[in-house]
Amino acid sequence: MQRGWFITFEGGEGTGKTTQILKLAAHLESLGRTVVLTREPGGTPVAEAARAVLLDPALEPMGLSELFLLEAARHDHVEQVIRPGLAKGEVILCDRYADSSTVYQGMVRGIGVERVEELNELATGGLDPDLTIVFDLDPEAGVGRARSRNAEGDGSESRLDDEPAEFHRSVRDGFLRLAVRYPHRVRVIDATGGPDTVFDRLLAVLPEELR
Ligand code: TYD
Repeated sequence: MQRGWFITFEGGEGTGKTTQILKLAAHLESLGRTVVLTREPGGTPVAEAARAVLLDPALEPMGLSELFLLEAARHDHVEQVIRPGLAKGEVILCDRYADSSTVYQGMVRGIGVERVEELNELATGGLDPDLTIVFDLDPEAGVGRARSRNAEGDGSESRLDDEPAEFHRSVRDGFLRLAVRYPHRVRVIDATGGPDTVFDRLLAVLPEELR
């Protein structure tokens, strides 16, 4: 059996993350790999229910409540989807994971990196990604992309897109700091340019057997 791979994708809003994940899934399937596409918060019925609460603009959970909801969703997701998939040799492509909590809740919302990482550890049982791709883009460009996407959709997932520019700058800085802290697994990709250009950069940082 082939070994499983756990790859996570991070970055601010509108960095083109979703497009790249779909392109990578198609590429890996063409190599004969079984790919699981998933996301956080989400990925199981309980976690998707938590997601609906988290992204509801009418609800404003307190900071720690938000974090606990994210970690509850994460634990469910790790135990029911990610670990079983890896055990079967699947490639798990996950749109956001624990690093998002470290950056959004730990750094930007001010709960603290150590506290959040402790909860991440508890929720994941210490399961770190094999590789984390951070899509890096100037927040001005990213928020513009996210806004036009929300204007096309039903606008139901827009709570965090409405944050001020300062928030988006802190998110970007946060992910860049994590890349410095965890150089063995985090790769920063320049997200400027068209989808094919960005995809070439993504392929270049993948392990040999997934290229
Ligand atoms: P989503 O619509 O998936 O945004 P994006 O397309 O930017 O990934 O919404 C997820 C939002 O939740 C996003 O704004 C980041 C936020 N989030 C956290 O604040 N902490 C977390 O741990 C996770 C997983 C997401």
